[in-house]
Formats: sequence, C-alpha cells, structure tokens
Amino acid sequence: MNPVQFLSTQHGQGMLKRARLLTLDGPQWGLIEHGALVWENGLLAWVGRERDLPVRWQPLHHTAIDARDMLVTPGLIDCHTHLIFAGSRAGEFERRLQGVSYQTIAGEGGGILATVHATREASEEHLLASALPRARALLADGVTTLEIKSGYGLRFEDERKMLRTARRLGRELGLDVRLTCLAAHALPEEFAGRADAYIDEVCRWLPRLAKEGLVDAVDAFCEGIGFNPAQVRRVFATAGRLGLPVKLHADQLSDLGGAKLLADYQGLSADHIEYSNADGIRAMAASGATAVLLPGAFLCLHADRLPPIAELRQQGVPMAVATDCNPGSSPLLSLRLAMSLACTLFQLTPEEALRGVTEHAARALGCTDRGRLRAGLRADFLLWNVAEPAELAYWMAGQPLHTVARVEARPGPT
Ligand code: NIG
Ligand code: FE
Repeated sequence: MNPVQFLSTQHGQGMLKRARLLTLDGPQWGLIEHGALVWENGLLAWVGRERDLPVRWQPLHHTAIDARDMLVTPGLIDCHTHLIFAGSRAGEFERRLQGVSYQTIAGEGGGILATVHATREASEEHLLASALPRARALLADGVTTLEIKSGYGLRFEDERKMLRTARRLGRELGLDVRLTCLAAHALPEEFAGRADAYIDEVCRWLPRLAKEGLVDAVDAFCEGIGFNPAQVRRVFATAGRLGLPVKLHADQLSDLGGAKLLADYQGLSADHIEYSNADGIRAMAASGATAVLLPGAFLCLHADRLPPIAELRQQGVPMAVATDCNPGSSPLLSLRLAMSLACTLFQLTPEEALRGVTEHAARALGCTDRGRLRAGLRADFLLWNVAEPAELAYWMAGQPLHTVARVEARPGPT
C-alpha cells in the first residue's frame, strides 16, 4: 500500500488536471469529467472542464499535477468528535457486550465520568500525545477540518486544558481544528444533586474561555443522563449573549424535544437525533439547522431506534455524518467508515454520505468557506484511487486515498 501524499496549497499557485471532479456543486455529485482545478494562496481559483481553462491559467498547464482520471473530492470534515481524552473504556465495552446498558454504567458513575477522572489527572502534554495518533488516523482517511469538543474536564481549568490541547493539536498537524465547549456534558460528582448550580458555573466559564479564543461553538448533552431542556436553555442563552453559535447532543436516547430546542436558538446542528419528533424536524428545517448523524455511536450502543431519515429528507434538512470519536460510545477513527455505516445502517445513499462529510459537515460547523469544489472556497481537496464515486462509502477499511491537498492551518497565539 502506497503512503498517502500530502501537498500544501497555502502559498503560490498550482493546477490539477485530468481529474474526475466530484464538486458537490450541483446534482449527481456535481461530477465534472475531464476536469481541472487551479488554486492560488489557499483558495480554489478555478474549477471546471480542462478544455475550458481560461487563458490566464494556461501557463500552469505544463507543471500541473496529473490526476490520471482519479476521483477528486473536497477535503473531508469531521464535524463531531471528542478526540481529547485520557484513559480507556475497553472494560466498559466488555460489560456492554454482556448486556449492561450505557445508561446503567453512567448511573454507576462510570461512562463519561470515568473519562472525566482520567482526563482531570492528565497533563496537557499527555492529552496531546495520546490524541495525536487518533487525529493522524482521521487525517489518513482525508480529514482536513476537525471539530473537537471539551466535556471531560467539567472544571474550569480542565475544560480549558482540553480546549488548549485541541488547539495545540491543530497547530502540530497544520490542521484546521474547530473548538466546541461541551462543559454541559455530564454532572461532575462534586455537584451531585446540584445540576442548576453546575450550570451556573458553566455560564460563568464561557465568557472566560471565549475571551481566550478557545470557543468556536457551544454544545450540551440534553438527556436524562445529561441536562434537562431548561438547563440547556440557560447555557444557550449565555452563548447567545457572547455571539457564539450552539449545537446540541439531542434526542439520542429519549425524546426531550432537543431538536426543537436547538432550532429555537437558531443553532448550527442537532446531533444524534434518533428520538427527535416530527415537530422538531420541522423546526430544524425552518431554522436552517443541520442534522448530524452519528452511526458509530448507534452501532456501538446497539441502538434500535433509527434517526428519522425520511422526515429529514422530506423537510430538506441537510444531513451531516461524523465519527463522534470518543472512548465510550464511538471509538471510531475513520470518517470513511462512518460514511459506510451511514449507508448500511441509516440507508443514506453514497452521495448523501459524501455530502454529509463535506458540504453538510461544513454547515454543521458554520464554515461557509469549504465543503465543495468551487472557485473562492478553501483549497482542500483529495485524490482517490477508486473507479466509482460510490466506492468512497463502500470500502470499510483499506487505503483508497492517494493525495491530500490542503491549506496548512496558520499558527496563531498560544
Ligand atoms: O456523543 N452522548 C454524549 N456524549 C458522547 C459520548 C461520550 C462518552 O460516552 O464518553 C456521544 O455519544
Ligand atoms: Fe458526541
């Protein structure tokens, strides 16, 4: 197996020729046969049929990279991960295989709280070192934008530590990492019986974390084993005052009206949504929210309630797909496998799966500058060694990726 090639598009100009472009900019994959694209200083400058290449770009033709009819897609976007954590939950996995439920384990103080214990103990260095191989695995499958949530610290300093680690990881890999504060993920033991007081704390932390540039979006876990809708509303109201967009772990294990709640705050995305009701889906459609489907968690938790795919399609709610990479419910390190599972388990079409990890994943993060191959968007694109577009969601392992061309994330303040 040949190693994946990496190419930076951040500086200067370049051209790709003899490509089958899956632009996603239009129906039927937005396919352009005999295509070419030009990039300049990190942006796509031109995308189209090679024979229509404008005169101004023709001098690039003789140094162009020859795609040899490989399929070319936008860079993949993993819009929902919990990549930073310490410890292992393999023992919990074994117990679940014996029939103990995720909720029972959480009720015993295991589950998310087990990872909280380990993460609080860990240094930033340790967290970074353990997350890097996971991030590299995602990269090797074509991820060029990665969202990472906090939520295993549940104390100001530990939430901050997680978000700082996520930012450092982005710098280390030259990868665009979007930071989501999920301090309202679980109730820490020291607040047992005082969930409202914990939410008060979270609302105090948000402005401080935001001031350090550590928050691109705010998330919460609205669930029986998480926080109730009234508590989530308080977190969202604080985010709104800070001008931060919101997302929600919504209706994963029960219907608490999470989809509607998210829509009430014009949130970016409602994630999981297996139990969301028709009102909630309609409200999401009206507010322009994206549904993030997480088939890895569905599979690992042996869930039997499917997300309402038919309603989402009918209402025109864009569907994103993500790994939800986390040590408990979804130890999934391949966004391509998430695409495959979205097809097999949720009956998405391969084209919907690809849009789910590009165009719609970009929407779920509020990133309007990526997710399709179109002039003016970020020059993040991938060359795939496969013959048919559907193969992108078909192979369950292996290495079909040939080249990652991407903008290297620019270093900012530490
Ligand atoms: O998206 N649902 C809550 N949060 C994660 C699980 C986190 C964990 O189990 O550690 C999820 O599935
Ligand atoms: Fe999650």
